[in-house]
Amino acid sequence: MLHSRAQQFLTAITFSLLIASCSKDVMEPQDQIDNARARTKTTLTPIQQLGKQIFFDARLSEPMGVQACASCHAPEVGFSGFSDIPTGGAAAASGFKRGWVAGIGEGAAVGAFGKRKPQSAAYAFQSPVLEFDGQEFVGGLFWDGRATGLTLGSPLAEQALGPFLSVKEQNHPSPASVLAKLKSNRSYLALWKTVYGIADIDMNTPEAINTNYERIGFAVEAYEASSEVSQFSSKFDAYMAGRATLTAEEAEGMRLFNNEAGCNDCHKQLGGNRNRPFVVGESFADFAYHNIGIPQNPNNPGGNLAPDPGLAGFLATSDNPTWRAMADQNFGKFRTPTLRNVAKAKRFMHNGVFSSLEQVVHFYNTRDVPGEGWNGVPWGAPEYSATMDTEALGNLGLSPAQEAAVVAFLKTMSDGYTGVTQ
Ligand code: HEC
Ligand code: HEC
Repeated sequence: MLHSRAQQFLTAITFSLLIASCSKDVMEPQDQIDNARARTKTTLTPIQQLGKQIFFDARLSEPMGVQACASCHAPEVGFSGFSDIPTGGAAAASGFKRGWVAGIGEGAAVGAFGKRKPQSAAYAFQSPVLEFDGQEFVGGLFWDGRATGLTLGSPLAEQALGPFLSVKEQNHPSPASVLAKLKSNRSYLALWKTVYGIADIDMNTPEAINTNYERIGFAVEAYEASSEVSQFSSKFDAYMAGRATLTAEEAEGMRLFNNEAGCNDCHKQLGGNRNRPFVVGESFADFAYHNIGIPQNPNNPGGNLAPDPGLAGFLATSDNPTWRAMADQNFGKFRTPTLRNVAKAKRFMHNGVFSSLEQVVHFYNTRDVPGEGWNGVPWGAPEYSATMDTEALGNLGLSPAQEAAVVAFLKTMSDGYTGVTQ
């Protein structure tokens, strides 16, 4: 009796499970979305989770609660910055507590502006430690290479320690003041214990503060290099993996990129001949420094409009005497940025002077053609003409259709390709 009753029970359960699994075939739209999210969800390791929490935490600014790394490196714009958003705290309604002027972000302190545009924090991990390779400087981070990577062995970890303390960014008075905020938060302490095996954040000696502050850098680095930030999920990547076909225009843009347009001179990963095909995981940057003759951004809010010396400015203050002596040849040179996600960005070049990819490509094509410019305004003079590259760009002779093809190819580098060509 009991036996058969148990069997009936089991049969009933099996039956209802069957019904449940059948009903999955007719999923509600919300379930479908949740399902898709679960499938594409990237699992972060504990150190990447710690880095993520830090990256998005607006408590880590002074005044508290107004700015995180993500304010100036927002996922929706390819982990870079914005163009124009009202400044001085008026922007709170839009979800942004600090504003933007012509591509330059306001710091946590109201009205504090640098004069450079944020690069993408994604794919920055691909830049090696800065070195002089006998011909040119290669690697490091920031437009001028000053996050060399020579101290921590990683430019990215070193870079991450800067913004918390910069008066133009998150504005903390000391590493200890940043650590204290982590220490007073249970969720940080829990992650810290999982990652570093220590339940507390020791701030008792200068050495302990130093070690723990560097750990912040390594955690942020781990997040920035994770598959959530540096996704390699663009149409270009799918094409390289044989999972997507480029349109005729995109394919022509790629051909031009590597030939008449000469973009491959600088936007191709180092290693071997620049005429070789692209590599899987292509960085679209040689990580070297070039002066491509960018004019001033007339709306730059960063105070004076004195020319930006770029790499020369860093070399002149370097503690390496050989490097200091090389400053003169490097005025106006900036590190080639990755082109990944560049179509998501709102402003372009170190000072944010350009606001569309069409404008950028037209500049490369016609910088040196008399009478050329954009929207009826002639191209402005380069900040430093003596060190400007006059061979690889400036008068490429591309037709309007060819310029458009190069732009179409740049758009294949945006992450989040779903198999549907937009
Ligand atoms: C107020 C805006 C602002 C905030 C906040 C900010 N950044 Fe930046 N970031 C910039 C600017 C501007 C640059 C370029 C500065 C330069 O080159 O001199 C930059 C450069 C970088 C770079 C270098 C990328 C490259 O290719 O060289 C990385 C990585 C980065 N930021 C990550 C971070 C992290 C991590 C945080 C938080 C700890 C952060 N940023 C906070 C504006 C900001
Ligand atoms: C001589 C080297 C060189 C060549 C050739 C070159 N670039 Fe660049 N590119 C750079 C450097 C360096 C920068 C940053 C310059 C600056 O801000 O002063 C840059 C910036 C850019 C940017 C802006 C990225 C950003 O995040 O602001 C885009 C887009 C771009 N290049 C696309 C191209 C295309 C398309 C071509 C070919 C038509 C090309 N580049 C040719 C070196 C080069």
